[in-house]
Amino acid sequence: MKTVIKNISELIQTESTPRKWVAGEEMKQLNTIKDAFIEIEDGLISSFGSMEDWNGISDWNSTEIIDAEGGMVFPSYCDSHTHLVFAASREGEFVDRINGLSYEEIANRGGGILNSAEKLQNATEDELYESSLKRLNNLIQMGTGAIEIKSGYGLNLDAEIKMLRVIKRLKENTEVTIKATFLGAHALPKEYKDNKEGYMDLVINEMLPKIAEEKLADYVDIFCEKRYFTVEDTCRLLEAANKLGIQAKTHVNQFNSIGGVEASVKLGALSVDHLEEMKEEDYEALKNSECMPTILPSCSFFLGIPYGPAKKMMESGLPVALATDYNPGSTPSGNMNFVASLGCIQLKMTPEQVINATTINTAYAMGLEKEMGSICVGKKANFFITKEIPSYSYLPYSFGENVIDKIILNGKIIA
Ligand code: NIG
Ligand code: FE
Repeated sequence: MKTVIKNISELIQTESTPRKWVAGEEMKQLNTIKDAFIEIEDGLISSFGSMEDWNGISDWNSTEIIDAEGGMVFPSYCDSHTHLVFAASREGEFVDRINGLSYEEIANRGGGILNSAEKLQNATEDELYESSLKRLNNLIQMGTGAIEIKSGYGLNLDAEIKMLRVIKRLKENTEVTIKATFLGAHALPKEYKDNKEGYMDLVINEMLPKIAEEKLADYVDIFCEKRYFTVEDTCRLLEAANKLGIQAKTHVNQFNSIGGVEASVKLGALSVDHLEEMKEEDYEALKNSECMPTILPSCSFFLGIPYGPAKKMMESGLPVALATDYNPGSTPSGNMNFVASLGCIQLKMTPEQVINATTINTAYAMGLEKEMGSICVGKKANFFITKEIPSYSYLPYSFGENVIDKIILNGKIIA
């Protein structure tokens, strides 16, 4: 079965061969084709080009035609950092912050990640699966076609495995491409309040090997931050994970720059995420590395903390990726359209830079650069068709508006 999408006013982010990522000056460039078509076979992009060059339909019986009616086609967003599986929202803490408490003060009172962990430990796998599936379907409607999902609200062996099994079920039962990350070292559970070594031993010696054996995680993560986990903890965990063939994606520099970037890069992390606070040595560590700096602007927006320095990173020749950080505490939104708008409005990135940062670069940050992130022959037919819009800049410009008309994943119309 072949599918043809015709009458596309502009086809966005086209590539003749898949690039690893887009960095520095190059991020200003975006390849597009005006008045275009795409052909899909077996869920993959088989050809695309200008309508003028389209050969037409050779076999009417086995070709489905979709008329884009003058809308644009964008590759699906790749959201390379989320905590989509959780048991309950935390708007009580949101109100506490409005009334003057900080994120840290709330965490110190037993709120924050520990609050989510208690709720998650008491939820069944089925309950978690159903609520996460609803959230995921909602994100698919907003243009996300690949997503990384972390554990980290379990904080004991059974509950971490429960979360990762939920992610596995989401992988098996939806059209969206999913990567799973084990984040056992997200916060110190109450029982280990005065025994961080004991908890790190549990994460490294019991949780990690079991999770690796059951192939439940594609990546490992740790919250490397003052009052959470140190650079030494980070090195210990990443070294152990490397021995099991599991690469890292780390939470670093959210509130303080303490050396987590350098340690993560040295130990081969695929991405370092947050980066609200950056020192010169963090830029140096990232230069000439294979690690994707990833900024999470919705988290800065929601918590009122600084935005990551995207412009300075690009001026230093680095690539930049933008993801949501969807979670109940610091970012209760998985909307990549809003991330794109914040990229332009708050990070002062151009629409071209933002589109590169939310597609090709986030695809790299989840090991999917050969499969997703652009319109390229052989990549997955994952994209969205917009309503009629005047230009691609209209997408980040029209913040809060939904310009998406149709969603195609693996060549199938999903919505
Ligand atoms: O990425 N910073 C660590 N973890 C999450 C927040 C988790 C929570 O508050 O539940 C984040 O922002
Ligand atoms: Fe996060």
